[in-house]
Amino acid sequence: MIGYGRFVVGTLLVTGATGSLGRVVATRAAAAGWTVVGTCLGAGAATPAPAERLDIRDPAAVRTLLDRIRPDAIIHTAVGRNRDDWGTTADGAANIGVAAGGIRLVHVSSDAVFSGRAVHYDESAAPDPINPYGAAKAAAETAVRATAPQAAIVRTSLILGDGRGGHEILTHALVSGRRRGALFTDDIRKPVHVDDLADALLELAATDYAGILNVAGTDAISRYDLGILVAHRDGLDPSAIPAAPSPGNHALDVRLTLDRAASILNVRLRGARDFLSTAPTS
Ligand SMILES: NC(=O)c1ccc[n+]([C@@H]2O[C@H](COP(=O)([O-])OP(=O)(O)OC[C@H]3O[C@@H](n4cnc5c(N)ncnc54)[C@H](OP(=O)(O)O)[C@@H]3O)[C@@H](O)[C@H]2O)c1
Repeated sequence: MIGYGRFVVGTLLVTGATGSLGRVVATRAAAAGWTVVGTCLGAGAATPAPAERLDIRDPAAVRTLLDRIRPDAIIHTAVGRNRDDWGTTADGAANIGVAAGGIRLVHVSSDAVFSGRAVHYDESAAPDPINPYGAAKAAAETAVRATAPQAAIVRTSLILGDGRGGHEILTHALVSGRRRGALFTDDIRKPVHVDDLADALLELAATDYAGILNVAGTDAISRYDLGILVAHRDGLDPSAIPAAPSPGNHALDVRLTLDRAASILNVRLRGARDFLSTAPTS
């Protein structure tokens, strides 16, 4: 265990609190004793309390909200509705970093910053994105490092486990025929349970850890095999999932190494084969 301790349970600002990750972060933070203020772009309700409207593309709005809320920590999960919306995903992260000043900041990044050419990526790996979303997330990392050098920047992978993850929704839609397409058999990630990731972010919010940290699940698995696990868990017919090789315009095999997370975090990061063997939780 490396000593990054700085125990804080005070007021926590969760950006993107209506999102699939932010909602779980906000809920688990409140259960852990934080006073939680969530934000969203639209009018959606958020748990555990209605979210504040905030457009992170507007630097003045970000500063005004932080001046009013005066949080002890910020977990920045918000991302563009269109993932490659540069103004939200990249510039918005910069606006959060600038306004945060000395406030503890945990920024959520993605394994999409990598091409997959190297397969295994530790925290020292430099981004080499090959699609607009990965480029925007890489730019966000650079902006946060420049504006808030004491921030923790968490690179993570596919997020699921509570039935609301994008891959769970996609698998159901493909099996029912509501969506056309296929799950790629050669597109490998290390999916993480949303609860495990949320708990890791909350742990980090109460520490001084600065810089990149990989937080993902322990199993490397293809998108297709992940869909098969979701189908088995949810009583769907796995043979109804269309399979295909990736068209090659995005990363194929990205595996975040987890040694540092294991040495720093108390949360146990489960693998997809473990957490998808039981009913959805959260
Ligand atoms: N999902 C994954 O598998 C995955 C994998 C790796 C990394 N990540 C990262 O994890 C984080 C959370 O992803 P997610 O899947 O939970 O996202 P999500 O479900 O799409 O939620 C996005 C959130 O951001 C808010 N938002 C959108 N545009 C905004 C703006 N201009 N200003 C302020 N808020 C805005 C949305 O508010 P509204 O609800 O009002 O639109 C929503 O609350 C992101 O940083 C993402 O890059 C996700």
